[in-house]
Amino acid sequence: MLEAHEDDAALARVASDFGTPAYVYFTDKIEQRIADLRAAFGGRFALSYAAKSNPNPELLRWLSSRIENLDISSIGEMRLGLRAGWEPERMSFTGPGKRDAELAEAIGNGVGELIVESVDEAIRADRIAAEAGSVQRIMVRIAPDRVPKGFGDQMAGRPSAFGVDYEAIHEELPKILALRNLRLIGLHIYAGTQCLVPEAICENYRIFMSIFSDVCERHDIWPEKLVFGSGLGVPYFENDAPIDLKAAALGIRKEIDAFCALPRFAKTDLALELGRYLVGEAGYFLTGITTIKESRGTRFGICDGGMNNHLPASGNFGMVIHRNYRMHRVGGGEPARKVNLVGPLCTPLDRIGVGVQLPEIAIGDVIAVHNSGAYGLTASPVYFISHELPREILMEGGQARDVTRQLGDLAR
Ligand SMILES: Cc1ncc(COP(=O)(O)O)c(C=O)c1O
Repeated sequence: MLEAHEDDAALARVASDFGTPAYVYFTDKIEQRIADLRAAFGGRFALSYAAKSNPNPELLRWLSSRIENLDISSIGEMRLGLRAGWEPERMSFTGPGKRDAELAEAIGNGVGELIVESVDEAIRADRIAAEAGSVQRIMVRIAPDRVPKGFGDQMAGRPSAFGVDYEAIHEELPKILALRNLRLIGLHIYAGTQCLVPEAICENYRIFMSIFSDVCERHDIWPEKLVFGSGLGVPYFENDAPIDLKAAALGIRKEIDAFCALPRFAKTDLALELGRYLVGEAGYFLTGITTIKESRGTRFGICDGGMNNHLPASGNFGMVIHRNYRMHRVGGGEPARKVNLVGPLCTPLDRIGVGVQLPEIAIGDVIAVHNSGAYGLTASPVYFISHELPREILMEGGQARDVTRQLGDLAR
């Protein structure tokens, strides 16, 4: 790459003002994604942000006035959301292993919808709601019997901890419907993610609609709300092409319109639940080269942040064959040679890029790892080898703000 990247002026400023390692999140890019999603689906879907993808408190606060819902998967995420100004009624609570104490706190806080993932969980939630003297709104998560090809991660179509198997739903649902302190307001499906193929997204939503229709008709449910786990992916690697969102939306819009025209669903709100597609590409991880060494013909750039800060980019978060995230040296320059970029940890697992074609590297250079806005810092083992936490910077219209989170911010 000869020219500097379009975000390099801002990234260089962050690196010099705040130091590295650092995460940088560009809110204008998230704003664009929100607008693109609303336009592509003609406003059919409300948006529900999966806090797990990036629960930075200031990012949560920024999102709270821009999208409708927050999906939490632990009581810690609920606490973060509440502190960031999200009303509990706008939250849904997913997750396969909710503990009684979490259920009690979420129900006590007035969580909007509990996403029930098993009959066992429903029975416990019913007892806890009864003890609290409340009737809790719930949605039942269903795990479809198939997920189309093209999804990097699958949570259904095989034995799964997530949701009630579609094959068992007709037997299981009545047991949940019989619970007096739970009120079913809709259904939830999140079957897979990291899909870049429009036709696969369409097929997935087609499966969802057919399951929703079948279950609602068989059990005479007139749902208030149906949640579609979006599945939309981001192009992590050099050869990935970004998903064509318009093509995906165009391929399914007529069927969604027909679905919504059915009397049973005419008053139903639809929501897309997603994380990475909203915030992934809006973030960079900046890591600075502190040491350069040659070893047996390989040049190493040793960086101040590695897998302790960004486990997914190191390839240790479910990647079968290591592939480098897209990355560049801030400031551009003529590609010179391949280097291995590693982090500061005492383990060969700590690699940020293997054989990366870069300009001649020097101590003090900053590497920007792309697609780092989701599943970055909080998907990483930050305590391992006790380095300081990286900074987190929110870029709002050219203004950089330090939004570094504090360890311990999940406390009650
Ligand atoms: C229930 C649920 N909702 C939403 C998400 C967000 O997925 P993504 O960030 O891929 O959009 C996940 C991811 O695992 C999930 O499990």
